[in-house]
Amino acid sequence: MNKTKKTLFTDTPVELNDNSYIFAIESSCDETAGAIVQGGRKVISNVVASQIKTHEKFGGVIPEIAAREHLEAINVVIDKTFKEANLKPEDIDAFAGTVGPGLVGCLLVGLNAAKTLALVHDKPFIGVNHLDAHVSANFIDTDIKPPFIALLVSGGHTQILDVKSYSETQIIGETLDDAVGETYDKVARLIGLPYPGGPKLDKMAQKGNPHAFKLPEAKVGEFDFSFSGLKTAASRLVKSFNGKDIPVEDVCASFQECISETLIKKVKHALEVKGYKQVVIAGGVAANSEIRRKIFELEKEGYRVNAPQMKYCTDNAAMVASSAFFFDNTFDDIDVEVFSRVK
Ligand code: KG4
Ligand code: ZN
Repeated sequence: MNKTKKTLFTDTPVELNDNSYIFAIESSCDETAGAIVQGGRKVISNVVASQIKTHEKFGGVIPEIAAREHLEAINVVIDKTFKEANLKPEDIDAFAGTVGPGLVGCLLVGLNAAKTLALVHDKPFIGVNHLDAHVSANFIDTDIKPPFIALLVSGGHTQILDVKSYSETQIIGETLDDAVGETYDKVARLIGLPYPGGPKLDKMAQKGNPHAFKLPEAKVGEFDFSFSGLKTAASRLVKSFNGKDIPVEDVCASFQECISETLIKKVKHALEVKGYKQVVIAGGVAANSEIRRKIFELEKEGYRVNAPQMKYCTDNAAMVASSAFFFDNTFDDIDVEVFSRVK
Protein backbone atom coordinates (compact mmCIF):
# COMPACT_ATOMS: atom_id res chain seq x y z
CA MET A 1 0.00 0.00 0.00
CA ASN A 2 1.57 3.27 -1.14
CA LYS A 3 0.15 6.76 -1.30
CA THR A 4 1.51 10.24 -1.49
CA LYS A 5 0.69 13.18 0.77
CA LYS A 6 2.29 16.63 0.87
CA THR A 7 4.19 18.52 3.56
CA LEU A 8 2.44 21.67 4.73
CA PHE A 9 4.96 24.46 4.09
CA THR A 10 7.36 23.20 1.45
CA ASP A 11 4.69 21.21 -0.47
CA THR A 12 7.11 18.27 -0.75
CA PRO A 13 5.58 14.88 -1.64
CA VAL A 14 5.86 12.28 1.14
CA GLU A 15 5.31 8.69 0.15
CA LEU A 16 3.54 6.61 2.79
CA ASN A 17 4.57 2.96 2.61
CA ASP A 18 4.86 -0.06 4.91
CA ASN A 19 7.81 1.53 6.74
CA SER A 20 6.16 4.90 7.35
CA TYR A 21 5.38 6.12 10.84
CA ILE A 22 2.09 7.90 11.46
CA PHE A 23 1.59 9.71 14.75
CA ALA A 24 -2.09 10.14 15.69
CA ILE A 25 -4.18 11.78 18.40
CA GLU A 26 -7.70 10.82 19.48
CA SER A 27 -9.81 13.07 21.77
CA SER A 28 -13.42 12.76 20.59
CA CYS A 29 -14.94 11.78 23.94
CA ASP A 30 -13.43 10.86 27.30
CA GLU A 31 -10.07 9.37 26.32
CA THR A 32 -6.99 11.43 25.46
CA ALA A 33 -4.90 9.10 23.31
CA GLY A 34 -1.71 9.14 21.27
CA ALA A 35 -0.13 6.44 19.12
CA ILE A 36 2.57 5.78 16.55
CA VAL A 37 1.77 3.10 13.98
CA GLN A 38 4.08 1.81 11.25
CA GLY A 39 2.63 0.91 7.86
CA GLY A 40 -0.91 1.10 9.23
CA ARG A 41 -0.66 -2.27 10.98
CA LYS A 42 2.22 -2.30 13.45
CA VAL A 43 1.69 -0.39 16.69
CA ILE A 44 4.94 1.14 17.94
CA SER A 45 3.39 2.99 20.88
CA ASN A 46 -0.13 3.38 22.21
CA VAL A 47 -1.00 5.68 25.12
CA VAL A 48 -4.52 6.18 26.49
CA ALA A 49 -5.40 8.54 29.36
CA SER A 50 -8.95 7.73 30.44
CA GLN A 51 -11.29 10.17 32.19
CA ILE A 52 -13.70 7.47 33.40
CA LYS A 53 -12.90 8.23 37.06
CA THR A 54 -13.91 11.88 36.59
CA HIS A 55 -17.20 11.16 34.81
CA GLU A 56 -18.18 8.17 36.97
CA LYS A 57 -19.59 10.43 39.68
CA PHE A 58 -21.88 12.20 37.18
CA GLY A 59 -23.10 8.95 35.57
CA GLY A 60 -22.01 10.15 32.10
CA VAL A 61 -19.59 12.39 30.23
CA ILE A 62 -19.89 16.14 30.94
CA PRO A 63 -18.54 17.77 27.73
CA GLU A 64 -17.10 20.92 29.34
CA ILE A 65 -15.24 18.94 32.00
CA ALA A 66 -14.04 16.44 29.39
CA ALA A 67 -12.60 19.22 27.22
CA ARG A 68 -10.68 20.67 30.15
CA GLU A 69 -9.30 17.26 31.09
CA HIS A 70 -8.08 16.77 27.50
CA LEU A 71 -6.22 20.08 27.78
CA GLU A 72 -4.51 18.91 30.95
CA ALA A 73 -3.57 15.52 29.52
CA ILE A 74 -2.63 16.25 25.93
CA ASN A 75 1.03 17.28 26.33
CA VAL A 76 1.77 14.45 28.73
CA VAL A 77 0.16 11.94 26.33
CA ILE A 78 2.14 13.27 23.34
CA ASP A 79 5.46 13.09 25.24
CA LYS A 80 4.70 9.58 26.48
CA THR A 81 3.77 8.40 22.98
CA PHE A 82 7.17 9.48 21.60
CA LYS A 83 9.06 8.13 24.62
CA GLU A 84 7.41 4.70 24.46
CA ALA A 85 8.27 4.46 20.78
CA ASN A 86 11.78 5.81 21.28
CA LEU A 87 11.14 8.11 18.32
CA LYS A 88 11.31 11.87 17.76
CA PRO A 89 8.87 14.11 15.83
CA GLU A 90 11.46 14.26 13.00
CA ASP A 91 11.10 10.49 12.51
CA ILE A 92 7.36 10.79 11.81
CA ASP A 93 6.11 10.75 8.20
CA ALA A 94 2.62 12.20 8.82
CA PHE A 95 0.51 13.48 11.71
CA ALA A 96 -3.16 12.56 12.10
CA GLY A 97 -6.04 13.59 14.36
CA THR A 98 -9.72 12.77 14.81
CA VAL A 99 -11.97 15.37 13.17
CA GLY A 100 -15.38 13.99 14.23
CA PRO A 101 -17.96 12.84 15.09
CA GLY A 102 -17.57 13.60 18.78
CA LEU A 103 -17.75 16.33 21.39
CA VAL A 104 -16.63 19.54 19.70
CA GLY A 105 -14.69 21.01 22.64
CA CYS A 106 -12.86 17.69 23.08
CA LEU A 107 -12.10 17.20 19.39
CA LEU A 108 -10.65 20.72 19.16
CA VAL A 109 -7.95 19.93 21.73
CA GLY A 110 -6.60 16.83 19.98
CA LEU A 111 -7.07 18.05 16.43
CA ASN A 112 -5.29 21.35 17.08
CA ALA A 113 -2.41 19.50 18.75
CA ALA A 114 -2.07 17.17 15.73
CA LYS A 115 -2.25 20.09 13.28
CA THR A 116 0.36 22.02 15.29
CA LEU A 117 2.77 19.07 15.28
CA ALA A 118 2.37 18.75 11.50
CA LEU A 119 2.92 22.49 10.98
CA VAL A 120 5.92 22.76 13.30
CA HIS A 121 7.66 19.77 11.74
CA ASP A 122 6.49 20.49 8.17
CA LYS A 123 4.89 17.08 7.65
CA PRO A 124 1.59 16.06 6.00
CA PHE A 125 -1.54 16.37 8.13
CA ILE A 126 -4.35 13.77 7.87
CA GLY A 127 -7.76 14.32 9.51
CA VAL A 128 -9.65 11.14 10.36
CA ASN A 129 -13.31 10.20 10.79
CA HIS A 130 -13.73 8.54 14.20
CA LEU A 131 -16.03 5.83 12.80
CA ASP A 132 -13.58 4.91 10.02
CA ALA A 133 -10.95 4.72 12.76
CA HIS A 134 -12.96 2.18 14.76
CA VAL A 135 -13.25 0.01 11.62
CA SER A 136 -9.49 0.42 11.01
CA ALA A 137 -8.72 -1.14 14.40
CA ASN A 138 -9.21 -4.37 12.44
CA PHE A 139 -6.12 -3.68 10.30
CA ILE A 140 -3.82 -3.71 13.35
CA ASP A 141 -1.69 -6.87 13.50
CA THR A 142 -3.70 -8.55 10.72
CA ASP A 143 -3.59 -8.73 6.91
CA ILE A 144 -7.32 -8.11 6.44
CA LYS A 145 -8.31 -5.97 3.43
CA PRO A 146 -11.67 -4.77 2.03
CA PRO A 147 -14.19 -5.77 0.77
CA PHE A 148 -15.95 -6.73 4.00
CA ILE A 149 -19.06 -6.04 6.05
CA ALA A 150 -18.36 -4.12 9.26
CA LEU A 151 -20.61 -4.04 12.30
CA LEU A 152 -19.86 -0.79 14.09
CA VAL A 153 -21.18 -0.71 17.65
CA SER A 154 -20.08 2.14 19.91
CA GLY A 155 -21.47 4.45 22.56
CA GLY A 156 -22.89 6.83 19.97
CA HIS A 157 -23.26 4.77 16.78
CA THR A 158 -24.65 1.49 15.50
CA GLN A 159 -24.17 0.82 11.81
CA ILE A 160 -23.74 -1.95 9.29
CA LEU A 161 -21.17 -0.82 6.75
CA ASP A 162 -20.33 -2.11 3.31
CA VAL A 163 -16.59 -1.44 3.14
CA LYS A 164 -16.10 -1.90 -0.60
CA SER A 165 -12.51 -0.59 -0.74
CA TYR A 166 -10.17 1.77 1.10
CA SER A 167 -11.88 4.65 -0.71
CA GLU A 168 -15.53 3.60 -0.63
CA THR A 169 -17.65 2.78 2.41
CA GLN A 170 -21.44 2.75 2.37
CA ILE A 171 -23.72 2.75 5.43
CA ILE A 172 -26.31 0.09 4.62
CA GLY A 173 -28.10 0.07 7.96
CA GLU A 174 -28.15 1.95 11.25
CA THR A 175 -30.07 2.50 14.44
CA LEU A 176 -33.15 4.66 14.23
CA ASP A 177 -32.83 5.70 17.87
CA ASP A 178 -30.37 4.62 20.61
CA ALA A 179 -26.93 3.19 19.85
CA VAL A 180 -26.02 -0.23 21.28
CA GLY A 181 -23.47 1.18 23.77
CA GLU A 182 -25.95 3.84 24.88
CA THR A 183 -28.64 1.16 25.42
CA TYR A 184 -26.17 -0.94 27.46
CA ASP A 185 -25.23 2.08 29.59
CA LYS A 186 -28.86 3.09 30.19
CA VAL A 187 -30.00 -0.42 31.16
CA ALA A 188 -26.91 -0.82 33.37
CA ARG A 189 -27.86 2.40 35.15
CA LEU A 190 -31.38 1.07 35.74
CA ILE A 191 -29.96 -1.81 37.70
CA GLY A 192 -27.55 0.41 39.59
CA LEU A 193 -24.26 -0.30 37.79
CA PRO A 194 -21.84 2.69 37.61
CA TYR A 195 -20.87 4.46 34.33
CA PRO A 196 -19.87 3.15 31.83
CA GLY A 197 -22.21 0.27 32.56
CA GLY A 198 -21.71 -1.71 29.32
CA PRO A 199 -18.67 -3.77 30.41
CA LYS A 200 -20.14 -4.34 33.89
CA LEU A 201 -23.48 -5.50 32.46
CA ASP A 202 -21.53 -7.87 30.19
CA LYS A 203 -19.78 -9.41 33.22
CA MET A 204 -23.09 -9.91 35.08
CA ALA A 205 -24.69 -11.40 31.96
CA GLN A 206 -22.03 -14.12 31.80
CA LYS A 207 -23.33 -15.50 35.10
CA GLY A 208 -27.04 -15.43 34.21
CA ASN A 209 -29.56 -17.42 32.17
CA PRO A 210 -29.98 -15.81 28.72
CA HIS A 211 -33.41 -17.40 28.31
CA ALA A 212 -34.83 -16.35 31.70
CA PHE A 213 -36.84 -13.47 30.20
CA LYS A 214 -38.00 -12.85 26.64
CA LEU A 215 -37.31 -9.28 25.56
CA PRO A 216 -38.68 -7.80 22.31
CA GLU A 217 -36.84 -7.33 19.03
CA ALA A 218 -37.89 -4.27 16.99
CA LYS A 219 -39.32 -4.73 13.51
CA VAL A 220 -37.52 -2.19 11.32
CA GLY A 221 -35.81 -2.04 7.88
CA GLU A 222 -33.82 -5.12 6.81
CA PHE A 223 -30.43 -3.77 7.96
CA ASP A 224 -31.66 -1.19 10.50
CA PHE A 225 -31.98 -1.33 14.27
CA SER A 226 -34.11 0.22 17.00
CA PHE A 227 -33.33 -0.25 20.67
CA SER A 228 -35.69 2.15 22.43
CA GLY A 229 -38.40 -0.55 22.76
CA LEU A 230 -35.89 -2.97 24.27
CA LYS A 231 -34.78 -0.29 26.72
CA THR A 232 -38.39 0.34 27.80
CA ALA A 233 -39.06 -3.41 28.12
CA ALA A 234 -35.93 -3.85 30.25
CA SER A 235 -37.03 -0.95 32.43
CA ARG A 236 -40.52 -2.48 32.90
CA LEU A 237 -38.96 -5.83 33.75
CA VAL A 238 -36.70 -4.29 36.40
CA LYS A 239 -39.61 -2.29 37.89
CA SER A 240 -41.83 -5.40 37.99
CA PHE A 241 -39.73 -6.67 40.91
CA ASN A 242 -40.60 -3.56 42.99
CA GLY A 243 -36.98 -3.17 44.05
CA LYS A 244 -36.96 -6.60 45.74
CA ASP A 245 -34.69 -9.49 44.81
CA ILE A 246 -34.11 -8.45 41.21
CA PRO A 247 -32.49 -11.42 39.44
CA VAL A 248 -29.83 -9.05 38.07
CA GLU A 249 -27.69 -11.70 36.38
CA ASP A 250 -30.67 -13.20 34.54
CA VAL A 251 -31.95 -9.76 33.49
CA CYS A 252 -28.48 -8.87 32.14
CA ALA A 253 -28.10 -12.21 30.35
CA SER A 254 -31.57 -11.94 28.75
CA PHE A 255 -30.91 -8.37 27.63
CA GLN A 256 -27.50 -9.36 26.20
CA GLU A 257 -29.06 -12.34 24.40
CA CYS A 258 -31.71 -10.16 22.75
CA ILE A 259 -29.27 -7.49 21.59
CA SER A 260 -26.56 -9.88 20.36
CA GLU A 261 -29.10 -12.05 18.46
CA THR A 262 -30.51 -9.00 16.66
CA LEU A 263 -27.06 -7.71 15.70
CA ILE A 264 -25.73 -11.01 14.39
CA LYS A 265 -28.92 -11.84 12.48
CA LYS A 266 -28.72 -8.57 10.54
CA VAL A 267 -24.97 -8.90 9.91
CA LYS A 268 -25.52 -12.39 8.51
CA HIS A 269 -28.27 -11.08 6.25
CA ALA A 270 -25.95 -8.30 5.01
CA LEU A 271 -23.22 -10.87 4.24
CA GLU A 272 -25.68 -12.98 2.26
CA VAL A 273 -27.12 -10.03 0.32
CA LYS A 274 -23.68 -8.55 -0.49
CA GLY A 275 -22.07 -11.92 -1.14
CA TYR A 276 -18.99 -11.09 0.97
CA LYS A 277 -16.88 -13.69 2.74
CA GLN A 278 -15.33 -11.38 5.36
CA VAL A 279 -16.86 -9.61 8.35
CA VAL A 280 -15.34 -7.39 11.03
CA ILE A 281 -16.69 -5.86 14.22
CA ALA A 282 -15.70 -2.45 15.57
CA GLY A 283 -16.37 0.13 18.30
CA GLY A 284 -16.39 -0.03 22.09
CA VAL A 285 -19.12 -2.67 22.20
CA ALA A 286 -16.98 -4.95 20.01
CA ALA A 287 -15.36 -5.79 23.37
CA ASN A 288 -18.62 -7.51 24.42
CA SER A 289 -18.11 -11.21 25.19
CA GLU A 290 -21.37 -12.50 23.74
CA ILE A 291 -21.35 -10.38 20.58
CA ARG A 292 -17.77 -11.57 19.92
CA ARG A 293 -18.73 -15.19 20.59
CA LYS A 294 -21.70 -15.04 18.25
CA ILE A 295 -19.87 -13.27 15.41
CA PHE A 296 -16.99 -15.79 15.56
CA GLU A 297 -19.55 -18.60 15.15
CA LEU A 298 -19.86 -17.37 11.54
CA GLU A 299 -16.41 -18.93 10.97
CA LYS A 300 -18.13 -22.32 11.02
CA GLU A 301 -20.11 -21.16 7.99
CA GLY A 302 -16.92 -20.33 6.08
CA TYR A 303 -16.68 -16.59 6.77
CA ARG A 304 -13.44 -14.89 7.75
CA VAL A 305 -14.24 -13.04 10.97
CA ASN A 306 -12.08 -10.39 12.62
CA ALA A 307 -12.45 -8.45 15.86
CA PRO A 308 -9.86 -5.95 17.12
CA GLN A 309 -7.88 -6.83 20.23
CA MET A 310 -9.76 -5.57 23.31
CA LYS A 311 -7.46 -2.55 23.81
CA TYR A 312 -8.21 -1.36 20.27
CA CYS A 313 -12.04 -1.70 20.60
CA THR A 314 -12.63 1.30 22.86
CA ASP A 315 -11.29 4.72 21.89
CA ASN A 316 -7.55 4.82 21.14
CA ALA A 317 -5.23 6.59 18.71
CA ALA A 318 -3.66 3.50 17.09
CA MET A 319 -6.88 3.00 15.15
CA VAL A 320 -6.74 6.66 14.06
CA ALA A 321 -3.20 6.24 12.72
CA SER A 322 -4.23 3.07 10.90
CA SER A 323 -7.24 4.81 9.35
CA ALA A 324 -5.04 7.74 8.25
CA PHE A 325 -2.78 5.24 6.49
CA PHE A 326 -5.39 3.09 4.75
CA PHE A 327 -8.60 5.00 4.13
CA ASP A 328 -8.79 7.58 1.37
CA ASN A 329 -11.91 9.24 2.72
CA THR A 330 -9.80 11.22 5.18
CA PHE A 331 -9.66 14.98 5.62
CA ASP A 332 -6.06 15.83 4.80
CA ASP A 333 -6.60 19.55 4.86
CA ILE A 334 -4.98 21.66 7.57
CA ASP A 335 -8.07 23.93 7.58
CA VAL A 336 -10.48 21.06 8.27
CA GLU A 337 -12.90 21.86 11.12
CA VAL A 338 -14.19 19.53 13.82
CA PHE A 339 -17.76 18.22 13.53
CA SER A 340 -20.08 16.70 16.13
CA ARG A 341 -22.33 14.50 13.96
CA VAL A 342 -22.04 12.61 10.71
CA LYS A 343 -23.44 14.86 7.98
O1 KG4 B 1 -16.25 3.27 20.98
P1 KG4 B 1 -16.32 3.74 22.37
O2 KG4 B 1 -15.09 3.60 23.24
O3 KG4 B 1 -16.73 5.24 22.43
C1 KG4 B 1 -17.55 5.80 21.45
O4 KG4 B 1 -17.03 6.16 20.37
O5 KG4 B 1 -18.77 5.86 21.73
O6 KG4 B 1 -17.54 2.96 23.03
C2 KG4 B 1 -17.91 3.14 24.36
C3 KG4 B 1 -19.15 2.29 24.63
C4 KG4 B 1 -19.79 2.55 25.98
O7 KG4 B 1 -21.19 2.70 25.79
C5 KG4 B 1 -19.47 1.26 26.76
O8 KG4 B 1 -20.42 0.96 27.75
C6 KG4 B 1 -19.48 0.24 25.66
O9 KG4 B 1 -18.81 0.88 24.58
N1 KG4 B 1 -18.78 -1.01 26.01
C7 KG4 B 1 -19.41 -2.19 26.17
C8 KG4 B 1 -18.41 -3.15 26.53
N2 KG4 B 1 -17.21 -2.50 26.58
C9 KG4 B 1 -17.46 -1.20 26.25
N3 KG4 B 1 -20.70 -2.54 26.03
C10 KG4 B 1 -21.04 -3.82 26.25
N4 KG4 B 1 -20.14 -4.79 26.61
C11 KG4 B 1 -18.83 -4.49 26.75
N5 KG4 B 1 -17.96 -5.45 27.11
ZN1 ZN C 1 -15.38 5.61 19.71
